[in-house]
Amino acid sequence: MDKSTRRAKFEGVWNVIHDELLAHLKACGMPAEAQEWYSENLHYNVPGGKLNRGMSVVDTVEILKGRPLTDEEYLQVAVLGWGVELLQAFFLVTDDLMDSSITRRGQPCWYRVPKIGLVAVNDAFMLEGAIYHLLKRHFKKEPYYVDLLELFHEISYQTEIGQLIDLITAPEDAVDLSKFSLQKHSMIVVYKTAFYSFYLPVALAMLFCCVPTLYTPPNSASAVAPYEVAKSILIPLGEYFQIQDDFLDFAGVPAQIGKVGTDIIDNKCSWCINTALSLTSYAQ
Ligand code: IPE
Ligand code: MN
Ligand code: MN
Repeated sequence: MDKSTRRAKFEGVWNVIHDELLAHLKACGMPAEAQEWYSENLHYNVPGGKLNRGMSVVDTVEILKGRPLTDEEYLQVAVLGWGVELLQAFFLVTDDLMDSSITRRGQPCWYRVPKIGLVAVNDAFMLEGAIYHLLKRHFKKEPYYVDLLELFHEISYQTEIGQLIDLITAPEDAVDLSKFSLQKHSMIVVYKTAFYSFYLPVALAMLFCCVPTLYTPPNSASAVAPYEVAKSILIPLGEYFQIQDDFLDFAGVPAQIGKVGTDIIDNKCSWCINTALSLTSYAQ
């Protein structure tokens, strides 16, 4: 199956998930106005990205199983994938508020859409809440249900810690370059990006395939820790990805990256400024 067919199949499950979330609001007796608001929140913020994170859950499960998935398996795995995309949407809606960003994915940031404003904060919470609602509906009977919950919670917390250090290293009104270093940059990007974007999708796929935390390969004396091995590969990959994001924030054009860069105005501890500082004297 080529990439666009795979994407279309994954997007097909989004419609199922959207309708399921809306049906729940309806069943709670929520007014039509609330249903429409939530539907617009979901449409505007969840499916329009690259979908790399969500689709990599599906790809990883297929690689681990070594065969195509049944329809039933595909639906469950795609729910995990869309869970990652919902988590990302939750982070991006709040990130754009905190970064005072203008556009995202080629359209105004959600909080800048007329009549949305600070309701975007609650809309972000609802995107996050949707993850746990979906996990309960689709995974409660699975032996690894609690592991899924713990993984989503732990990764969310790590990302929030990353956002904290990203934000407090860069107060807009007080430029203090002594707070910056490539080492500090590495810590920021590992926490704010790498865990949720790279480790989370693969770890979810591993949980779905019931990969144990310790595993002794046949004909081997020593056990390996598969999740730690995955982390050791995926976290540096995530660091590389965010360095590209930093570079594009500086050098990319909106038509190419779908957003207007704000790192310089926001005084961010970006890879670009840290690399420049490592090559220049103070006076320069
Ligand atoms: C976003 O980091 C990280 C999260 C959303 C958790 P950035 O602020 O650098 O990302 P962009 O450039 O706005 O997408
Ligand atoms: Mn941002
Ligand atoms: Mn940010």
